[in-house]
Amino acid sequence: MTLQGFFLSSQLKLKNPKINIAIDGYSSSGKSTLAKALAKKLNYLYIDSGAMYRAITWFIIQNNIELNDKHLEKHLKGALIKLFSVDGKLKVSVNDLDISEDIRSMEISNMVSEVAAISCVRTYLVSIQQSYGKDKGVVMDGRDIGSVVFPDAELKFFMNADLATRSKRRLLELQHKGHTNLSETDVLKNLTHRDNIDSTRADSPLVQTSDAIVLDNSTISFDDLLEKAYEMALERIKLAN
Ligand code: DC
Repeated sequence: MTLQGFFLSSQLKLKNPKINIAIDGYSSSGKSTLAKALAKKLNYLYIDSGAMYRAITWFIIQNNIELNDKHLEKHLKGALIKLFSVDGKLKVSVNDLDISEDIRSMEISNMVSEVAAISCVRTYLVSIQQSYGKDKGVVMDGRDIGSVVFPDAELKFFMNADLATRSKRRLLELQHKGHTNLSETDVLKNLTHRDNIDSTRADSPLVQTSDAIVLDNSTISFDDLLEKAYEMALERIKLAN
């Protein structure tokens, strides 16, 4: 399967790359916030693999494509999806339309796990994700990064936080983005639904690999979490040299 292209803008340049860092975990466990901050501190490339699944979901909805359409792969060739950075913020576009905000909507959140369970979608996205990591220096967050995308990553984190903490965090994020009509129950239902599909799907379910360091984000402050992850990254970078 080939989408016309997933590629990074030249704004996302690497300096002194050494290792790959995989951050997996449940929805809204704080993976992206940590991954982004860690990448910035290390001057590494941050890749939000969930945004790629969300962009494909957006495209499927826009084009009224059925998930069981035999020609799904062919349809997806009509999508030119780009990840790029503006003022240090990761943006996503499809056919040059910036959909960075749209992909965070509840409509996308309610469907993305079903899309992400489709093997041809995964095969394609995994190959793109692996190509981003071939020169190292990447922090990528998702569900299968340590298990499938970068099984040899020098550093793997598995992030969790209790469901109440995750729901509150997600609701605040959504409200901040103007989605003010949602209740905590709506968000909690969506997280439970996604956790369930993401952890039980046949292809590359969310798993905690035996070599992953578990970070529980319910009790520790973000600054402490980042410091801990950063110290570990520096150790692994030293070992890799
Ligand atoms: O991280 P996120 O919530 O934006 O991810 C959206 C969905 O994409 C999530 O429900 C599961 C799926 N996903 C996946 O299956 N594999 C990944 N590596 C990243 C995300």
